[in-house]
Amino acid sequence: MGDKVFKVYVTRRIPEAGLELLRKSCDVEVNPEDRPLTRAELLEKVKGRDGIITLLTDRVDAEVLDAAAGAKGFANCAVGFDNLDIAAATARKMPLSNTPGVLTLAAAEMAWALLFAAGRRVVESDKAMRSGGWQGWGPLQFIGGDVSGKTLGVVGAGRIGAAMAMMSKGFGMKVLYADDAPNPRLEAELGARHVGLAELLKDSDYVSLHVPLTPVTRHLIDAEALALMKPTAYLINTARGPVVDEAALVKALKERRIAGAALDVYEFEPRLAPGLAELDNAVLTAHTASATRSSRDGMALKAAENLLAMMSGARPPDCLNPEIYK
Ligand code: GLV
Repeated sequence: MGDKVFKVYVTRRIPEAGLELLRKSCDVEVNPEDRPLTRAELLEKVKGRDGIITLLTDRVDAEVLDAAAGAKGFANCAVGFDNLDIAAATARKMPLSNTPGVLTLAAAEMAWALLFAAGRRVVESDKAMRSGGWQGWGPLQFIGGDVSGKTLGVVGAGRIGAAMAMMSKGFGMKVLYADDAPNPRLEAELGARHVGLAELLKDSDYVSLHVPLTPVTRHLIDAEALALMKPTAYLINTARGPVVDEAALVKALKERRIAGAALDVYEFEPRLAPGLAELDNAVLTAHTASATRSSRDGMALKAAENLLAMMSGARPPDCLNPEIYK
């Protein structure tokens, strides 16, 4: 074993793949408890480290960056980075990174799992089976939405949104997408149409959200947006909770203004908006879109690789603030 040159802190246990790589050249301390650090713990634990691996449940802002003064970087073990204050890090010349690419298919697949779960009422009928009250097959039971040949609306056609849209090929769906930028591949391979959000909401049978959380996308799906959707349509959110006004969604679901929703992310995680858990037309999962073996290993490895690059003074492969190297 060579000298351990870098001191690294990992805010919560991540898959061994990443920890093993770090341990080759670093003194690695990992939060021993399977829970997010408290704010006070985070501020304390980042002190005197060369690098820190954070998770999406850690808020990395000016105060944390200052507590970590002297560190060479923060590697977020997530593709989303709304928990990081990039401007504050850039002002301090502190590199930040995320983990794009390794969870694209897992996240897209989860959107499909949710689409089917909501459309075909999988959870609702599972509950009926377990409750012991099921009397046998019935011609009017659990009638849900069709998928094949229907219209899929993808909001945000980046890596994950585009992958989700491509997977619709097997179901022969019409695809609409809303994004600032056109996606020529989706248009060429799927005949997808680039439309405005209002048109997408009006015409889609399934609306799947894939935008990052930014000040512009916060509450992108609010009461007004929900009112544009068909009463037979479903909303799927595997992006970030605050993209949807959750209280407005609960109201729309309660009033059957839309047919259903399937959510993997929540506006105030881990809390749910009042009333959401009681709705039988909502499918709720525990922010697990990237939770496959290969994705989580890939994320841990990528975070470790980015952090090792930062600590050796190199620009990390997935730098979120490359301007600091200019
Ligand atoms: C998960 O939500 C991620 O951003 O990686």
